[in-house]
Amino acid sequence: MHTVAVLSLKGGVGKTTVVLGLASAALRRGVRTLVVDLDPQCNATATLDPAETEGTLVDVLKNPTLSNLRKSITPSPWGEGVDVLVGSEDVETLNHPEPGVAKLNKLSKALDQIDSLLEEDETPYQLVLLDCPPSLGQLTRSALVAADRALLVTEPTMFAVSGVQRAFEAVQNERREHNSRLQPLGVVVNRVRPRSHEHQFRVEELRELFGPLVMPVALPDRLAVQQAQGACLPIHQWNTPGAREVSLAFNLLLARIMRASRGRVAPTRAEPIEEYEDLAEEAE
Ligand SMILES: Nc1ncnc2c1ncn2[C@@H]1O[C@H](COP(=O)(O)OP(=O)(O)O)[C@@H](O)[C@H]1O
Ligand SMILES: [Mg+2]
Repeated sequence: MHTVAVLSLKGGVGKTTVVLGLASAALRRGVRTLVVDLDPQCNATATLDPAETEGTLVDVLKNPTLSNLRKSITPSPWGEGVDVLVGSEDVETLNHPEPGVAKLNKLSKALDQIDSLLEEDETPYQLVLLDCPPSLGQLTRSALVAADRALLVTEPTMFAVSGVQRAFEAVQNERREHNSRLQPLGVVVNRVRPRSHEHQFRVEELRELFGPLVMPVALPDRLAVQQAQGACLPIHQWNTPGAREVSLAFNLLLARIMRASRGRVAPTRAEPIEEYEDLAEEAE
């Protein structure tokens, strides 16, 4: 099982969009996935649109028992194989600015048990996506303690470099202090308009500083992203040229995550794109 924390220390850059896009690609690929909504705004939960549950992440973080997990995880109507650990506005009350180790370990403890929830003939979870809030308090840090990979999200703006730098520092701190398994997976640049010189310049700037950690796949800025989210549908089901373009990018990103998770952490710039072609074809 691969557990990926999707973070940025800034709001509105596309963390939830990346989580939802990857869940959509995973659904298409048949990769059994759990989305954990750690943001008190609960946008991921709203778009995955699950039926009401008896419990939420608040119960799980207070007391990470199997019965609280069972009450709080439910299938998404997006399709078989994508489940949600549902968020709650009240999770904000658990976003302590200086949490101790016991608080930081709760999510990790909970996720260690998720396969015990499944029936014997059910496929185990292959991917767990942790949708973080924009702050670096207990919730984001719990995600970094529970994850084995951290995926950073940024927009191609002039503040991207310092934001990414701070997010990498947060990852390194958690790795040093609480979670030696944690590896930075890379930075995904979102909302790129390929014809914008400013965007090209910012992407180049990120590549110069962070080298191969900048994902070769950038996510284009397309209205379809907002339309699909508004309709609570996976982007792969939104049948417009813009949606297909974004879906393809998410297929490539998922392929990269699944491969990196098999041990190849630091990708090289020269990686042949052919390896992704079977995935690319699926987005056609
Ligand atoms: N690639 C994109 N193209 C168009 N709109 C986008 C894209 N990425 C994000 N958005 C929109 O930007 C807003 C903020 O994105 P979101 O994923 O919620 O950010 P975060 O989770 O980091 O706060 C949402 O309305 C989302 O639909
Ligand atoms: Mg969000």
